[in-house]
Amino acid sequence: VPVSDQVLVEVAGAGVNRADLVQRAGRYPAPPGAPPDVPGLEFSGTVAAVGPAVRSLETGARVFGILGGGGQASHVVVAEPHCCRVPRELDLVEAGGVPEVFVTAHDALFGQAQLQAGERVLIHGVGSGVGTAAVQLAHVAGAWTVGTSRTSQKLERARRLGLDDAVAAGEDMAERIGDIDVVLDLVGGDYLDVDLRVCRTGGCVIIVGLLAGARAEIDLGRLMSARLCLRGTSLRTRPDHEKARAVASFCARVVPLFARARLRPVIEEIVPLERAADAYERLKSGDTFGKIVLAPGG
Ligand SMILES: NC(=O)c1ccc[n+]([C@@H]2O[C@H](COP(=O)([O-])OP(=O)(O)OC[C@H]3O[C@@H](n4cnc5c(N)ncnc54)[C@H](OP(=O)(O)O)[C@@H]3O)[C@@H](O)[C@H]2O)c1
Repeated sequence: VPVSDQVLVEVAGAGVNRADLVQRAGRYPAPPGAPPDVPGLEFSGTVAAVGPAVRSLETGARVFGILGGGGQASHVVVAEPHCCRVPRELDLVEAGGVPEVFVTAHDALFGQAQLQAGERVLIHGVGSGVGTAAVQLAHVAGAWTVGTSRTSQKLERARRLGLDDAVAAGEDMAERIGDIDVVLDLVGGDYLDVDLRVCRTGGCVIIVGLLAGARAEIDLGRLMSARLCLRGTSLRTRPDHEKARAVASFCARVVPLFARARLRPVIEEIVPLERAADAYERLKSGDTFGKIVLAPGG
């Protein structure tokens, strides 16, 4: 039952994220307020009921948004400021794979790193959900993009999303990439050393994911002399009002680009909710490009 500014949503699509895998393994408990035993950081669907303080949404509205958990279910209750309308041009099930990765990438690139048209951005793990969102957002904004992946096929597919230069992940990355204004690092670990070496003076590195590990040795001399900025970001752990700000920016600046087909959801597979375990195994395999979305409606 939605109270105050909450809406009840009948879920059409719910993206699967790396965080869900870690939560299922018992290493990433749900934050306070989120159901501890139902994963799911994002959803799309139809509003089924509204709380008394809801201002702009009505029963029947098509919406998508972010959650602290609980999205992989038939219904979710979500605060109005954490969701917005799905443009009619978007398929409602596919829309369930949009919010988490596009809010994360948009907030990191533009909210935090202040990426500008004409700047050069490096995206590690460019074939991931966040990576495929980031390359499209940077491309549409007029930035030049270079991406890395360990899989050549993913690099080819990323080129079709606007990636300007594709570099196979490996030891020579730092020799092949240079003069970068912003690094969006979804991999972490040893990649941090590469990040610091390829940035121009004054460049900014944002750590978004830790697929290669949470520990790294860094050259503080390089950080200092090149006056680099190194920061981390996390969407799930933010207080509600900060999440609302990131979602508002996504709704105002990103969603209209979906309506105009300048951006598109990158969906590897839609899987019925009853087969959630298969979807998790598929994501874990690392062979996906873009998103896997669970569909409670089958
Ligand atoms: N900070 C936040 O708020 C936030 C929000 C969303 C996601 N994330 C994080 O961002 C990262 C990407 O998430 P996602 O859901 O987009 O991932 P995803 O779609 O599952 O893709 C991850 C990709 O990273 C690459 N990879 C995996 N392990 C790697 C390793 N050890 N070294 C190098 N590359 C590796 C793989 O591609 P190749 O094998 O082709 O290289 C894999 O396909 C995750 O760490 C996730 O937790 C953070």
